[in-house]
Amino acid sequence: MKKQTTLARLEAEALPLLEKSRLWQGDDAMQHGDTTVLLHCLAVTYFSLKLAGALRLRCDRKSLFRGAMLHDYFLYDWHDPDPSHRLHGFHHAEKALRNARADFALTETEEDIIAHHMFPLNAVPPRSREAVLVCLVDKGCSLYETLFRRTYPDLRALLGRNRPNRGKPAGQNISTQEVHK
Ligand SMILES: [Fe+2]
Ligand SMILES: [Fe+2]
Repeated sequence: MKKQTTLARLEAEALPLLEKSRLWQGDDAMQHGDTTVLLHCLAVTYFSLKLAGALRLRCDRKSLFRGAMLHDYFLYDWHDPDPSHRLHGFHHAEKALRNARADFALTETEEDIIAHHMFPLNAVPPRSREAVLVCLVDKGCSLYETLFRRTYPDLRALLGRNRPNRGKPAGQNISTQEVHK
């Protein structure tokens, strides 16, 4: 029951952000295994919020939500053999931050979450507890996605019922939507 409540709240909060961003582009690019970038971002958000709640952490919930949703907002398929995608692990946090700044007025905590989620691969550590949380959850989700298929069935269903081209599976949703700040 509680799971439903958390999911329902996440869905209500995620839809406006999906609408006014380029996040759906991440539905066309794989992150790990058969998990798309968008599904990965949603999962990192979901488990970061769950963990913050379970640990009763005092945190800026809105910034945690937005920072986690945008932490991999790099907007390309890192598997494409494009020279600019080389060393993706080292550079994509910076690219995600640049894109997120272009589309949103970010809080300091949101910037921290996005910029430092790849610590320790990127040398600068997260400063806020929200960014530490996302950094840790990101590692756990990435490992899970690398090892398993058909990940996060509830979150897949959430995306499936809200996908602009509903009926088409992930990977066929080339987004041309404008971003409205
Ligand atoms: Fe990342
Ligand atoms: Fe990530």
